[in-house]
Amino acid sequence: MSETERKPRVGLGVCGGIAAYKAIEVLRMLQKAGCDVSVAMTRHATEFVKPLTFRALTGEYVIVDDYDEANPDPIAHVNFSQNIDLLLVVPATANVLAKFANGIADDFLTSTYLASTAPVLVAPAMNVSMWEKPSTQRNIELLRADNVKFAEPISGELACKTVGTGKLDDVENIAKQAFAILGIRPRSVSTGTHVDDLSNEHILVTVGGTREAIDPVRFISNHSSGKMGFALAEAARDRGAWVTCVTGSVTAEPPEGVEVVRVESAQQMLNSVMTYLSGATVFVGAAAVADYRPKIVADAKIKKTDAEELTLELERTPDILSTVSDVRNSRLIVVGFAAETNDVEAYARSKMERKRLDMIVANDVSVAGQGFGTENNSAILLTRDDRIELPLQSKREMADRILDAIIEVRANR
Ligand code: PMT
Repeated sequence: MSETERKPRVGLGVCGGIAAYKAIEVLRMLQKAGCDVSVAMTRHATEFVKPLTFRALTGEYVIVDDYDEANPDPIAHVNFSQNIDLLLVVPATANVLAKFANGIADDFLTSTYLASTAPVLVAPAMNVSMWEKPSTQRNIELLRADNVKFAEPISGELACKTVGTGKLDDVENIAKQAFAILGIRPRSVSTGTHVDDLSNEHILVTVGGTREAIDPVRFISNHSSGKMGFALAEAARDRGAWVTCVTGSVTAEPPEGVEVVRVESAQQMLNSVMTYLSGATVFVGAAAVADYRPKIVADAKIKKTDAEELTLELERTPDILSTVSDVRNSRLIVVGFAAETNDVEAYARSKMERKRLDMIVANDVSVAGQGFGTENNSAILLTRDDRIELPLQSKREMADRILDAIIEVRANR
């Protein structure tokens, strides 16, 4: 960030939960990355951390109650909300998610949410039963539909000593997601030696295969290793891009210095893609996403019976690429892959049309030594006005050729 550039401004909301102290670490990370941070706390949050702590770290009055006589700003929720580039809530309780989702504004933080037009990222943390409660899940769906982004809670031992999902996401991950939305690249992210020709891009790439559950122990999946998607991520990182990988089932290791979000099913992959899309400037669908999933997922392991046959009824999964194309903004470049076994170019062209893509990478996955699980690949790269043959080469080399073509598409916009 140059001296003359305005610093990104973050409104950090802190709610009442054990994880409230972790908001301090997030605050420090944001500040180290060059953000100006102002803090808003709920009254219950002050039971866990004192406003004075945040005041000392930000040098600003910390608003809990906008009616408090000590509050220096008479219309604080409006001023606060209109002057931020991101509202980040760490931790977000079930209570605050419910209020956000339903337009309740009965304190400073919830009034700020209602009055703000900035992107919102929430990092929930709560007991597993509260997280899994249908009302909480309903509220989360409402918030997703309102374009609120989630730093998903992770599974682990919770403060209440139960084990399950509800633990606050890693603070580094929360900060990285905030950086991605703000479009800033903190200095600590490692970059390689290549030219910095993608430093203005945030590349969101889907990687690996999806797993569609049949029952608690079985699933439908495919042989994607993640090598192609991670090669793209690594090459883009080396050329200066901020990279987020929404990663399904993989055998390959992700490269260092890229953001990795783990998912399993096509629906989860779509949810995460939609969470990260607003900060992205390029979307690449390199994942092998299942087209169908079992219509009913059995609660318990399906038992072997005397019957010789078992019929699984399948239904379509959501199409991630088409959904991204439907909601794209004018800056976003959308790239798909086509994994074909015959009539490769013709099928790829029709996918490019149907899914309204800027580019498609057509690979023949029936040829030995390329496609799924291999180190190398060959492909035909199709754009709206170009056709480039990429002979057999390493997936990393191919990744650079795909990125070259993305730069060309950007230049022709
Ligand atoms: O991971 P590797 O082992 O390195 O293998 C690489 C690869 C073969 C998986 C990769 O090169 C590749 O071809 N990825 C796309 C595989 C695929 O699902 O292709 P498709 O033709 O079925 O789908 C077309 C496009 O739509 C793809 O970009 C896919 O991500 C996307 N899609 C498909 C279904 C769906 N429900 N949603 C989608 O977004």
